[in-house]
Amino acid sequence: MSRTPIIAGNWKMFKTVSEATAFFAEVKGKAEVAGVESVICAPFTALPALVEAAKGTTIAIGAQNVHFEDNGAFTGEISGLMLKELGVKYVIIGHSERRAYFGETDEIVNKKTVAAFKHGLTPIVCVGEKLEERESGATKEVCKVQTEGAFQGLSAEQAAEVVVAYEPIWAIGTGKSSTSEDAQDVIGYIRSVIAGLYDEAVAAKVRIQYGGSVKPNNVSEYLGQADIDGALVGGASLEPASYIALIEGA
Ligand code: G3P
Repeated sequence: MSRTPIIAGNWKMFKTVSEATAFFAEVKGKAEVAGVESVICAPFTALPALVEAAKGTTIAIGAQNVHFEDNGAFTGEISGLMLKELGVKYVIIGHSERRAYFGETDEIVNKKTVAAFKHGLTPIVCVGEKLEERESGATKEVCKVQTEGAFQGLSAEQAAEVVVAYEPIWAIGTGKSSTSEDAQDVIGYIRSVIAGLYDEAVAAKVRIQYGGSVKPNNVSEYLGQADIDGALVGGASLEPASYIALIEGA
């Protein structure tokens, strides 16, 4: 089973519209490598300009959050219906920063994942343990609970389309990346959890990324592991040269 590697930049709350379009002009044609999927997940405000700029390129645009309802009295929220109309392809769901600062539970993550599919968006579902959970040996259990929670109610066809991002929280923005062997161990385990929910064939189709201090100089190590199909990258996705190097390194 060959899975197309997927490198996604998560810009978090960085870049105005003009900064985003200037970035895109620099990476266009360069962060496009045959056999690697290149995705930029930008703030909502930059999405229309990026979707427009990405027309005719192989770079996909993603959002960083979505509400699970289509419409309603949810001040400040954006729905899948709205993202789909823009031409957004991916949406990050359940990033640890959303879980920590905005109270997203496994149940909310699941509702958002279901909502993404309802609108033809591909979810990039984040799972990962805190430092104290790693230290107490709970890493796999935490990832199991989060993965099972996110996939609840998805058909086998939908499950196969999900992109999972394993991001150990202690490795995010800290420069302390997980070793590629450790990341492979957890990601292989997550794949076995998905096999338990569906079957081996579905699990073999799911792309699972590693995230947490991925840089151009370590991306190929991760991608060299059997179960690691890409990376979700924060800091190193913000500079055009670095983003291009990540795609080339994959
Ligand atoms: O979603 C990506 C992220 O949380 C990792 O951030 O800056 O460690 O690559 P960073």
